[in-house]
Amino acid sequence: MSDPAPSIEWILQHLGEEDPVLGAVTPPIFQTSLFVFENCEDFARSFDYTGEGAGLYNYSRVANPTVDLVCRKIAALEHCDEAMVFGSGMAAISAAILSQVEAGAHVVAVDTCYGPTRQFIAEYLPRFGIEHTFVTGTDADALIDAIRPSTKVLYLESPSSIVFRIQDLETICRAAREKGVTTIADNSYSSPVFQTPHDIGVDIIVHSATKYLSGHSDVVSGALATDRERMKRIMLGELPLLGAILPPFPAWLLLRGLRTLAVRMEVSQVRGNAVARYLSARPRIERVFHVGLAEHEDRTLVEKQMRGSTGLLSFMPECQVKDRIFAFADALKVFRLGVSWGGHESLCVPLPYHPIDWPEERWLIRLYCGLESPEDLVADLEQAFAASGL
Ligand SMILES: Cc1ncc(COP(=O)(O)O)c(C=O)c1O
Repeated sequence: MSDPAPSIEWILQHLGEEDPVLGAVTPPIFQTSLFVFENCEDFARSFDYTGEGAGLYNYSRVANPTVDLVCRKIAALEHCDEAMVFGSGMAAISAAILSQVEAGAHVVAVDTCYGPTRQFIAEYLPRFGIEHTFVTGTDADALIDAIRPSTKVLYLESPSSIVFRIQDLETICRAAREKGVTTIADNSYSSPVFQTPHDIGVDIIVHSATKYLSGHSDVVSGALATDRERMKRIMLGELPLLGAILPPFPAWLLLRGLRTLAVRMEVSQVRGNAVARYLSARPRIERVFHVGLAEHEDRTLVEKQMRGSTGLLSFMPECQVKDRIFAFADALKVFRLGVSWGGHESLCVPLPYHPIDWPEERWLIRLYCGLESPEDLVADLEQAFAASGL
């Protein structure tokens, strides 16, 4: 096979698969916990995970060929030197943050980041003497001003959870780099198809690979991509010591899901855009939060940083009566009530939300548009509005 420029499609279908085992187009699963050796010299070398032993597998808590293949693809997709996959997005996120902090350190984070990430920073890290400041992500100056001499991590999520706010990654990362602060960004919502934050200065990219990367709602997984030096630290620390690497079978499922990532992203954004436009044109809706809308408050940044929108959006109904909102969600037939997103199926989550820059908590309805037709999705919402009177 020739070596064309590594387009996303080429990475997804061919990278790392130039020499298929027995000609199999689907790589085998190396479903093994350990590897044995013919001689002590190789066995000894295999413990030097990040040096001479790279490529010599000895134990699947540290490295496995099926896992490696997925990592190579994710690293290439994110334009990073290296990647690692974990047992969940939270395992990747916690490993990324822990690899950069020590007692006495300080973390600056975007207020509207994923809830358990926020909880990890706000409630878990203080047990080890690590402080934090949450800042509204749309205010780049506020994020930069929050950096202290002890700040080690600036945690970003763009678009962010629930309200899909955008951060000015280039400006923030330039300032962070000047101050020696590591930037970490959750890229789950865009996927590397629509955004490659490393290109604009983010040091560590994290993913809930449970979502778009795997894409079929059948595997919980996480990913982290970064430069060689930072990955070395993780390979010698968080990876073997916290022990949260993705096992071979889920890694193989993730690989299977990745094959269609580019196609699914295109389809998902068409659905997301159609549903967002429909909601924006409806009466009795106060706000629609979707990066694909022309009226998105961070439109200039969306156009600068992203190559597409997503299938995720939220809306704030004028009627804030909880029972009416629940009646709307109960009436949906195509959108199912459920957490998570990124799979084939459309989902709905009604939730109260209160970012630090809102005066009060408001009810939002988050929708994830899967692979159903846009007409079916809009018709489902229309009948649920009629049934609930929302
Ligand atoms: C944006 C985002 N980041 C991280 C996570 C955590 O990922 P996981 O559930 O795979 O641990 C989620 C899960 O919903 C998420 O939506």
